[in-house]
Amino acid sequence: MHAERSVAGLSKAGMFAELKQQLAGLIAGERDGLANAANLTALIHEVMPALNWTGFYFLRGGELILGPFQGRAACMRIPLGKGVCGTAAERRETLVVPDVHEFPGHIACDAASRSEIVVPLIQDGRLLGVLDLDSPHPGRFDREDADGLGALVQMLLQGTDFERLTD
Ligand code: SME
Repeated sequence: MHAERSVAGLSKAGMFAELKQQLAGLIAGERDGLANAANLTALIHEVMPALNWTGFYFLRGGELILGPFQGRAACMRIPLGKGVCGTAAERRETLVVPDVHEFPGHIACDAASRSEIVVPLIQDGRLLGVLDLDSPHPGRFDREDADGLGALVQMLLQGTDFERLTD
């Protein structure tokens, strides 16, 4: 599938508008959580510049378990409250970490990662997991990325059933 189009020259707002349009096309007519989450990782990883890891962790059995991702093999289980992912999940808020070496308890899956953003997945008040992006560049993510990724996550949550991926 080649839904992706070049976003070279677009502003960040323009890039997220493109991403939303492409995500709408990808998930139209499909409500499977694994399929839609997998395609969203591919879309983000191809379109957003300067990423070395893009993926999901789903809340299962009280901890975050690795889901679909793009990048190097990663740690498979993260307890709530641990690392950037577990902290964002426990607080139910998006975390932007400009320098992962400064984040107490950061879990280093890929030594190349220097900055990170984690967006929690909350559907009907239930925590389902997180979307995690890593960059090899310090300070790669800002509030505009948090808002743009948050909007993509909302689209995913509205168009997708996650019952079989989380408990
Ligand atoms: N760095 C994350 C762990 C996941 S990897 O980056 C893929 C953390 O501290 O939670």
